[in-house]
Amino acid sequence: MKNIVVLVSGGGTNLQALIDAEKRGGIPGGKITCVISSKSDAYALERAKQNGINTRVLVRRDFADVHAYSKAMLDALNEEKADLVVYAGFMTILDETVCKAYPNKMINVHPALIPSFCGKGFYGLHVHEAALEKGVKVTGATVHFVTEVCDGGPIILQDTVPVLNGDTPEILQKRVMENVEWKLLPKAAALFCQDKIKVVDGRAIVEE
Ligand code: GAR
Repeated sequence: MKNIVVLVSGGGTNLQALIDAEKRGGIPGGKITCVISSKSDAYALERAKQNGINTRVLVRRDFADVHAYSKAMLDALNEEKADLVVYAGFMTILDETVCKAYPNKMINVHPALIPSFCGKGFYGLHVHEAALEKGVKVTGATVHFVTEVCDGGPIILQDTVPVLNGDTPEILQKRVMENVEWKLLPKAAALFCQDKIKVVDGRAIVEE
């Protein structure tokens, strides 16, 4: 059984999707063993507690710099014996020591079709604001491996939703979450836990 450690910062709806999937047997070979939050008041922590999942809080401002914070995160992941680390709305930057210690073992859900609307500054609602500003007609979400390049790691899964006249960032965010993120993130975790994702020449190959 692979230990899944989920990193969160906010509401935790993607964490909830992972918990629900695990409960219905949708993540064979994996178990969510710990949730680590960068915010002490994140509702995601409540969701973990309600489901009997061990929690930890690592707040960035409690550490001198990004390196000290990353070291604490790495120590926590090692203590938890993480096999898979899932960024589920985790909004705090870690240095490259963390992803290098867990190569192709950390996945992130990003609320756009990478390589569009990604990288520094593109997170949460800002991503949907940018998509509406550009006037794209489809958007979606991407699950990818985490590397030292922000939102630049091998793409595992993507899916789309239409952008409709009158959409606000909030409406679009909801459509992307409900139709794509909450499905793809548990699916990617399940594929990983069944050893169905290989990375060859920097690209992820998924055995469906
Ligand atoms: C999700 O839309 C996720 O894709 C996004 O933040 C939201 C978190 O919601 N992540 C990023 O923008 C990362 N770059 P949640 O806390 O309800 O899962």
